[in-house]
Amino acid sequence: MKLFLADAEKCKKDGICIRECPFNLLKENTHGVPEMLSGAEAVCMRCGHCLAVCPSGAVSLAGVSPEMCEKTANEPAVDEAAVEVLLKNRRSVRVYKNKAVPRETVSRLMEMLRWAPTAKNLQPVHWLLADDKEKIREMARLTVAFLHENNVFPEIREAWEAGEDMILRSAPLIAAAYAADDALNPPTDCAIATTSLELAATAFGIGSCWAGFFMRAAKNYRPMIDFLALPEGHSVYAALMLGYPKFKYHRIPPRRKTGIRWI
Ligand SMILES: Cc1cc2nc3c(=O)[nH]c(=O)nc-3n(C[C@H](O)[C@H](O)[C@H](O)COP(=O)(O)O)c2cc1C
Repeated sequence: MKLFLADAEKCKKDGICIRECPFNLLKENTHGVPEMLSGAEAVCMRCGHCLAVCPSGAVSLAGVSPEMCEKTANEPAVDEAAVEVLLKNRRSVRVYKNKAVPRETVSRLMEMLRWAPTAKNLQPVHWLLADDKEKIREMARLTVAFLHENNVFPEIREAWEAGEDMILRSAPLIAAAYAADDALNPPTDCAIATTSLELAATAFGIGSCWAGFFMRAAKNYRPMIDFLALPEGHSVYAALMLGYPKFKYHRIPPRRKTGIRWI
């Protein structure tokens, strides 16, 4: 089966798919209908832009026809005010209600994350999820052991001894983004997916906080790596604690002006 197919009957020969292809892999054939350059199949990253952009629904890619695709939203998909509210109202939540996040909600969020951008559309991000209190506690304990071994953050270790979890904040859900180390840009891909999760979760009333200490242990501490049991050659690159916020924020804290320099 050909990777790229343009239906000559439906094609309006407008050249839009040719212009849109990120790697210029398409050209007009002798009848003005687009086709893929020879040898281009190996280069195509299957981003689907040719299929997505064709106004007449003439393009199929990798066996996916226009009819099989969900329609796009009217533009813009979200208005300016809504985006501003979303970005300004997100907070790092560190105090959670003792209430589980339903797995159906987690599945819904995970489904949305499929569309986060990834370097060369490699889509290398996987998720390690934990909602078992004992397992989350063990992840926090191992992180404390890692800090102890490196003789850093004594206050976090002392808090742990006193019964306070400053690592994962006794959150009911942990989501860690992991990827193959030999992907093109796993740290960035995982960070984008994680930030997407963080923002999307707010729509479900779920708060979150990046789990930086845990991330470091998950990347560098053998007992943690063994506990997480990721596939060989994969690492955790980003992680969030998630749960229902115990407290409501009544105001938006100030932040520095965005540093901007046009060149
Ligand atoms: C990469 C990264 C790692 C972080 N790690 C932690 C962490 O381990 N524990 C924590 O309480 N907050 C962590 N944070 C949250 C930051 O402290 C927080 O984003 C910052 O104070 C601003 O607050 P806000 O997110 O509510 O605007 C992390 C944030 C990022 C981006």
